[in-house]
Amino acid sequence: MTIDAEAEADAKRPVVDFATDWDHTDPAWVSNPYPIWDDLRARCPVAHTDRYAAGWFPTTHEMVAEIANDTEHFTSRMVVVTNNKFPPNAPPAPMGGAPPITSDPPFHQFARRLILPAFAPGPVNAMEDQVRALCAKHLDALGDLKEFDAGSQYAQYISPGVIAKMLGFPEANEDLFRDFVHVVLDLVDLAPEERGPLFLPMAEYFNAQIEDHVAHPRDDFTSYLLNVEFNGEKLSLEHVRGTMVLTLVAGIDTTWSAIGSSIWHLAQHPEDLARLVNEPELMPIAIEEFLRFYAPVTMARLVKEDLDFHGCPMKKDDWVLLGFPAANRDPEAFVDADRFIIDRAVNRHAAFGLGIHRCVGSNLARMELRVALEEFIARYPRFELSDASGVTWAPGQVRGPRRIPLRINA
Ligand code: HEM
Repeated sequence: MTIDAEAEADAKRPVVDFATDWDHTDPAWVSNPYPIWDDLRARCPVAHTDRYAAGWFPTTHEMVAEIANDTEHFTSRMVVVTNNKFPPNAPPAPMGGAPPITSDPPFHQFARRLILPAFAPGPVNAMEDQVRALCAKHLDALGDLKEFDAGSQYAQYISPGVIAKMLGFPEANEDLFRDFVHVVLDLVDLAPEERGPLFLPMAEYFNAQIEDHVAHPRDDFTSYLLNVEFNGEKLSLEHVRGTMVLTLVAGIDTTWSAIGSSIWHLAQHPEDLARLVNEPELMPIAIEEFLRFYAPVTMARLVKEDLDFHGCPMKKDDWVLLGFPAANRDPEAFVDADRFIIDRAVNRHAAFGLGIHRCVGSNLARMELRVALEEFIARYPRFELSDASGVTWAPGQVRGPRRIPLRINA
């Protein structure tokens, strides 16, 4: 992949006022969105933009929850804000292109129930040893290095390895998976005629994988989707392909970002790092605070019909960017919302979403994040940033550090 999304974002018209012209790919938002969201929450809790053919951005927990729970007025047909609300080949509602995340009720319930068993605690726990071995393999590869990039040399490898195994794809294709995710989630402000063709290699890859699995069925999620029957009927190939694409996209960038943000935090907070090293039983509670504080995922909706939302004149087909990460920093919803409290006792965060689309992969994500951090700090109990200015962040709706230059301390 040669297109650099961050350079693209830099080249765009800069935002002067996020209240009337927000852009989630603006460099200021990409590098540190929290002051922007705090400012909006205080003076204009539902921001507007004419970019991307018009959209809204609610910043309070209450409003994000209200929209996430309102499937009557908001559709999930498209959940990634781009310059194209009507891609020519996208399957229409109620299924959408990547069921169940792009599906509306009642189809959504069917598409979701179908995949729940694969993400239940039993199958997820059964993967823990493999995830641990994967982490150890990548840590071993770092050898005796005292300085390295924990983003590109560790965090980015864990989730692609897990998802490749789950879908039954060759692990050697990991670079390709990261390219696919980059096209779907990062290159969102390209013109439709530029972005559309970038999806072709992904479509070809998934078609080839489906053909291979039809010819050689095996015990993986792809074969499950191809063979599962509902009322005596198999799923359409469009449905199978859409759910495979969703699993790959939802399963890679999200967890990679969460692992990266957590390592980035620990590199700057030796007191938190020391507590995790000395009190390993704290890890599950700390994981929830990492997820709240650095929630990586923001998903979108489209407005179904013109409506007045708390005085905002929303128009049919306007985007609504659902700021789950902004909701997690709302002082009305969390005590000391802007403070990272590693042993925060009450933490009903929205990192995995709210409402019917709440993350199906949350058990898997939590396990991967826990194991990736446990293995990392067991190997490196003391580390810090070696070059704070060298840290870079992914633009768009899934936010996490891509480069984390670290120094390992004795
Ligand atoms: C830290 C990691 C993760 C975070 C923060 C996260 C976050 C989210 C959020 C916020 C949603 C709701 C989207 C919406 O309302 O439109 C969602 C949905 C979803 N996620 Fe995750 N996710 C993570 C990891 C994963 C993993 C590892 C998988 C599976 C491999 C996964 C699969 C899904 C699926 C299938 C949905 C759609 C559920 C539905 O529409 O009913 N996620 N996720």
